[in-house]
Amino acid sequence: MPLPAWALIAYLISGVLFILALRGLSSPASSRRGNRFGMIGMLIAVVTTLVTHSVATLPEIAIAIAIGGGIGFVIARKIAMTDMPQLVAAFHSLVGLAAVLVGLAAYFNPDAFGILLPDGTINPVSRVEMGLGIAIGAITFSGSVIAFLKLAGKMSGAPIMLPGRHIINLGTLALIVGLTGYFTTDQSIEVIAAITLLSFIIGFLLIIPIGGADMPVVVSMLNSYSGWAAAAMGFTLHNTAMIITGALVGSSGAILSYIMCRAMNRSFISVIAGGFGADDGGSGGAGAAKSDRPWKRGSAEDAAFLLKEAQNVIIIPGYGMAVAQAQHTLREMGDLLKEEGVNVKYAIHPVAGRMPGHMNVLLAEANVPYDEVFELEDINSEFAQADVAFIIGANDVVNPAAKSDKSSPIYGMPVFDVDKAKTIFFIKRSMGGVGYSGVDNDVFYMDQTMMLLGDAKKMVEEIIKSL
Ligand code: TAP
Repeated sequence: MPLPAWALIAYLISGVLFILALRGLSSPASSRRGNRFGMIGMLIAVVTTLVTHSVATLPEIAIAIAIGGGIGFVIARKIAMTDMPQLVAAFHSLVGLAAVLVGLAAYFNPDAFGILLPDGTINPVSRVEMGLGIAIGAITFSGSVIAFLKLAGKMSGAPIMLPGRHIINLGTLALIVGLTGYFTTDQSIEVIAAITLLSFIIGFLLIIPIGGADMPVVVSMLNSYSGWAAAAMGFTLHNTAMIITGALVGSSGAILSYIMCRAMNRSFISVIAGGFGADDGGSGGAGAAKSDRPWKRGSAEDAAFLLKEAQNVIIIPGYGMAVAQAQHTLREMGDLLKEEGVNVKYAIHPVAGRMPGHMNVLLAEANVPYDEVFELEDINSEFAQADVAFIIGANDVVNPAAKSDKSSPIYGMPVFDVDKAKTIFFIKRSMGGVGYSGVDNDVFYMDQTMMLLGDAKKMVEEIIKSL
């Protein structure tokens, strides 16, 4: 049944609102407005779909929403901020699985989807859409499950490099494309089953060779895949809003992956092709901080004294700040220093924390003014003039091994040049703890470094007291 004109216009309006939402989300200052546009757009799309479709009754849909929404509510309440990346990966897997299920539902019940031809066969164009939707959905599903397991620590974060993996991957992908083409001439169940199975396998194969340090890119790439899966599903369901939304998620996720690849100095093609061209050596979790080199321990009083005397202080937050929830206390410290005439800036690395924008969100939550927050490329040259580099819970993003040690899993990732600052304060809980990539950090042992060992929030509270 073709949709009434008003419904098409409603879908178009929600599509425009989603574009405005993405535009709003491109800057912290307009992100709340962007979110509101997105919410209104989604409301319009959902209501329009409910009113114009009669596949299920409203009470049935309400029950499904209550069950799914209830589970989502409980998970969202319980989830720790630090577990967000694996939760996002798990949610992406559900989008992929939904695409597979919709594709299979359309295959088994083509009449309900309006894709049955009078001769009793499925429209060949719909068969291509169905094949693509199922393939992208299955890749998203199994890829996201592996990403979830790696991020949740239930599977080793180290890359698993199968011999001849590029040939296996390319061969499997070619087979899926070939079978999708063949599906237009032969709609037998064996063909669709083979497409589904091979796609589940290739999703798995694409993600296992990706090492822990590259996981941020994988998460945003799977986000992009989940968008394309939704768009493909939109074609099967003849739903314009879904096609628009899926394409927006797919392309913005791809752009984010590209930006993150650039930030980490990784090849975009290498990551989307599943570690294609990746160095077979080096892995996350290798070689912890076991150095017996001398290092200096500082106290909150030392830090307060030098911070107050400084002219320029650059604060580098990382994952540990999120764990300690130290952002509010940190802002208080920054405010106190500003009152003393110190020039305070916050430096955010694109992969600091455990999800894109993690540090931006936390600093915004603590009302740190946006004009005091700088991205890596905008602030890195300023460390040479900084009196103090104040590292709070960051580690990999300030590790100079990324610049010099070819065997390091983070080699090639641009990092903050904290070694150029006159004094470095490094807050972490113990000398034994390591960053995400699991490698030792030369900054601990530098002449100008003072280790402030303790929980980030407690340490900053003590510095505030001393100030
Ligand atoms: P990390 O390198 O993970 O270092 C975190 C530091 O925080 C460690 O030194 C840890 O040492 C310290 N820490 C933990 N809890 C603390 C607490 N309560 N108080 C004080 N310190 C605490 O963090 P980073 O520099 O932000 O780098 C991020 C890493 O995660 C990168 O390797 C990145 O590739 C990876 N990653 C990023 C993402 C995204 S999208 N951002 C997603 C997945 C992975 P102690 O244990 O000794 O305290």
